[in-house]
Amino acid sequence: MGFARRKSFRLTAEPLSFVGVILALGDKLTLTIGDMAFGGEGVARVEDFVIFVPFVAVGEVVEAEVTELKKRFARARLLRVVAPSPERVEPLCPHFGECGGCQYQHLAYPAQLRLKHKQIGDLFQRLGRFDPGLIAPVIPCPRPYGYRNRIMIRSQWDKFKQGLNIGFIRADNRLVVDIEECKIAEPALNEQIKHVRAHPPPKGGIKVVLRIFPEGWEVPPDSFFQNNFFLLPGLVEVVRDRLRESGTRHLLDVYCGVGFFSLELGDLVESFVGVELDRLAIQAARRNAVTRARTNGEFVAGAVEDLLPALLMRFTAQAATVLLDPPRKGCQPETLELLRRTRPAQVIYVSCHPATMARDLNVLCADDVFELVQVVPLDMFPNTQHVECVADIRCKSAAGGKMEACQSRDPSF
Ligand SMILES: C[S@@+](CC[C@H](N)C(=O)[O-])C[C@H]1O[C@@H](n2cnc3c(N)ncnc32)[C@H](O)[C@@H]1O
Repeated sequence: MGFARRKSFRLTAEPLSFVGVILALGDKLTLTIGDMAFGGEGVARVEDFVIFVPFVAVGEVVEAEVTELKKRFARARLLRVVAPSPERVEPLCPHFGECGGCQYQHLAYPAQLRLKHKQIGDLFQRLGRFDPGLIAPVIPCPRPYGYRNRIMIRSQWDKFKQGLNIGFIRADNRLVVDIEECKIAEPALNEQIKHVRAHPPPKGGIKVVLRIFPEGWEVPPDSFFQNNFFLLPGLVEVVRDRLRESGTRHLLDVYCGVGFFSLELGDLVESFVGVELDRLAIQAARRNAVTRARTNGEFVAGAVEDLLPALLMRFTAQAATVLLDPPRKGCQPETLELLRRTRPAQVIYVSCHPATMARDLNVLCADDVFELVQVVPLDMFPNTQHVECVADIRCKSAAGGKMEACQSRDPSF
């Protein structure tokens, strides 16, 4: 099938009738959506050629206009839903489809959960040949709208309207869409948006982070905290269950932020250590420990890559759980190699980026050093493409002594 870049406009009658036909930018096609890719785009296939269309559902027949052409795939803009899915619902936000923040407001909430579950299973199978049966059903958020406690608002001068756009980056380009309220943000943040709009920044681009701080936790203004308070108890429960089940006695909370997991789980272990790059977060973690009278652990400031080798040596591998909650890019290769050498009994990996998580778990589980026991997804980000996952992996032969970096029994090290 040879696709040439040619300017022409055509509407195909049958979904498969354009096999062998030249496709060009601007073409209008009728497509049947066969699948949903991770990231939220619908997938229509014509033999090996893939056309991605956003804001659709599996089984739908849609009209779409080709906006991007590559060798093996194209992207198309949704023009009209010809045959809607029974799972299609009316989005709450008038900017849905235009704003880049949400991908799934057009899908009923149970359908979003099923979709995310399938996407994670597919991803784990593709990136690590993991059994999709190990992925538990996605735990729903009790509040699918009005849940986000942190948003970033941008402003951009619009020379056509001769005014500022204040809002979020658009779905289809890097321009800012002007919004008055965000339906997935907590109501208090929408009050803050009103304030920003009433006191607009000077002409030009700015970024403003609006956030609500958690009650009972000290969090410095620029430090990380989980951004959905409503499913946070659910996240803690899942991680507690995993840790309790392993029966380990020591916890290394790696990428610990303001000490959230250490302090929520500290009662389950004899001792814990939290490590974090953000010095202000570590100072806050120490004060958060005092507030909770939690005395069986400590918080250390610095890079995981520098500090973890020495911290691991404090504990007996068989009695240790390492909890990893890295930024979206995942762990550094040297951190994964260190864990493969030192072999703690359990690694609990928490991530809002299942692709980097599956990649890292694949490294940890290679040569049967660790084994994936379960992945529990939690819908911390309803109506968007994002999802949080907690993976539990166990060492297949945890080392008996202290976790010295060279004590591996694996001949490959
Ligand atoms: C996803 S957050 C997790 C925070 C914490 N576990 C929580 O639940 O609140 C990732 C954290 O990793 C920290 N971080 C990023 N790179 C790091 C590194 N190389 N060494 C130590 N901490 C790092 C960030 O500052 C951030 O606080």
